[in-house]
Amino acid sequence: EKIVLAYSGGLDTTAIIPWLKENFDYEVICVCVDVGQESELDGLEERAKLSGASKLYIENAVDEFVNDYIIPCVKAGAVYENKYLLGTSMARPVIAKRLVEIARKEGATAICHGATGKGNDQVRFELTIKALAPDLKIIAPWRMWNLKSREEEIKYCADHGITLPFSAKNSYSRDRNIWHLSHEGLELEDPSIAPDYDNLLVLSVPPQKAPDQGETISLTFEKGIPASLNGKSMTPTEIIKELNVLGGKHGIGIVDIVENRVVGMKSRGVYETPGGTILMEAHTQLEELILDRDTLSVKKEIANRFASLVYEGKWFTPLRKAYQAFVDVTQEYVSGEVKLMLYKGNIIKQGTTSPYSLYDENIASFTTGDLYDHKDAEGFINLFGLPMKVRALKYGL
Ligand code: ARG
Ligand code: SIN
Repeated sequence: EKIVLAYSGGLDTTAIIPWLKENFDYEVICVCVDVGQESELDGLEERAKLSGASKLYIENAVDEFVNDYIIPCVKAGAVYENKYLLGTSMARPVIAKRLVEIARKEGATAICHGATGKGNDQVRFELTIKALAPDLKIIAPWRMWNLKSREEEIKYCADHGITLPFSAKNSYSRDRNIWHLSHEGLELEDPSIAPDYDNLLVLSVPPQKAPDQGETISLTFEKGIPASLNGKSMTPTEIIKELNVLGGKHGIGIVDIVENRVVGMKSRGVYETPGGTILMEAHTQLEELILDRDTLSVKKEIANRFASLVYEGKWFTPLRKAYQAFVDVTQEYVSGEVKLMLYKGNIIKQGTTSPYSLYDENIASFTTGDLYDHKDAEGFINLFGLPMKVRALKYGL
């Protein structure tokens, strides 16, 4: 029987190959799904085969990730616990969907992933597999085997004839894709300790080391979807890549958070989301001009719920589609241009314009115009304040 393994080429997923063969006698098909992790894909096939896999698929899912997962979350304004832009959470369903597709193509009966038994990722992978392929068996070695450290994993590999240049040195648990890079583990596990940003950061510089000169950029959106950067039409994928460089240079989007995992515990992590932070901010600025008060208010609630749903790995549900349908209706007129200055970790507004802006200078300005007469406010306030007045006349608060 065949099993499909989510493979990264790292120590954890490499050790899983001999373990699967030894404990289940599976033929192991490795699948590496590229969501923009920029890892060295050269030599991956050789490594997988040396470790005992029969095949390696390298799947490019970057545009699918951006268009079908990231952009809906940008339109929604989905942010988990006020800070986390969901980089890892959004990537898991894309990856798991690809694993299912390859399992079908190969006639495999099971899927295996290398997420630990303490995290969110196991939940996200497995909910996706359950939703798309309920018949497939799921194997999560970290919940089964007794390997407890990198040293033990290296020894396990060596005992099975696999000697690869893995280092025993502990490092941060990192997860990278086109949207973000997360860091967890080591000294970050103590929230009283400040992160050693000079050693930690990969995509960005700490704000105090960013250039003294700010940089102004311009972004346009069409129906909530980013369409151009600095006057040049580009795909959303190209825009995110370019914004990552610009944001990284100016120290934008570094978040230090203690978040609540689905499995109950609190966990401390640092996220770098340079481009994503700019894109979300620009989109929010545009909506400020275009969405009416009631829609904006309901949309904020949906954004919160949408973020929790994505965090919890429930992407493939009717509820997600329903949230997305609501959001898409709100995006009908979210088109226009946003100018922003990037300066030492800050995003400073430089002007927003839209043909669909509901902002009207004639109405807003202090002089009386045709559409708004100061005198009308008196009657409005009389009715709006009637309940307070009635209560006060009868017996007060
Ligand atoms: N805590 C974040 C989340 O749950 C990041 C997880 C990082 N995953 C990893 N395999 N290092 O989305
Ligand atoms: C893991 O436990 O595999 C990574 C962290 C997480 O999933 O939350």
